[in-house]
Amino acid sequence: QAGEQDLGETPVSIDAIGAAILACRRCDIGCNGTRAVMGEGPHDAALMIIGEQPGEQEEAQGRPFVGPAGQLLRTHLEHAGIPAERAYVTNAVKHFKFMPQGKRRLHQNPSAREIDVCRWWLEGERGLVRPRLILALGASAARSLLGRTVSVQKVRGAPHVLDDGSELWITTHPSYLLRLDDGGRSEEEARFSNDLQKVAARLSQ
Ligand code: URA
Repeated sequence: QAGEQDLGETPVSIDAIGAAILACRRCDIGCNGTRAVMGEGPHDAALMIIGEQPGEQEEAQGRPFVGPAGQLLRTHLEHAGIPAERAYVTNAVKHFKFMPQGKRRLHQNPSAREIDVCRWWLEGERGLVRPRLILALGASAARSLLGRTVSVQKVRGAPHVLDDGSELWITTHPSYLLRLDDGGRSEEEARFSNDLQKVAARLSQ
């Protein structure tokens, strides 16, 4: 697989990954002085939801999807009938990549290499949680799972069966929805909602 990294012993527990990522300095983001954010949720969840990377609020609280994108995600999960607390929620990249602008920190997309380096930890989480369904939010998460860059608009809406037999569903990232203006937003939110409903249907099977 493209960019596959071997960072040593296969992680033996979710807690071990949580401890190890705090000290991970394998890429530039890991070296930027921010706090790593580990995934959270049941360690035997049937559904794993994967975002891109923690943002400002996630870094502050040390928890994934606690900011505005997380709120929008939860609203749509609830609407689709997916109990958020039963999903294991994590990110493709565990540190927050940003560009300083005055006192603010502006989000920056992780590079393909950074995603590929951090895949080691995500693979560790997948190996331990062993979800049968994976929901990848946005292109960075999709790249991490597929090992190549894809167009989310082209690959959404149908499952991709991964090596371990789990089903990967790809959709847009809620931060993308938040950035759209009113006109395009309701259409894109409807598509997002539709994607989540397909996952909900698989989850209940
Ligand atoms: N966006 C993400 O991709 N992940 C988070 O945890 C928060 C925002």
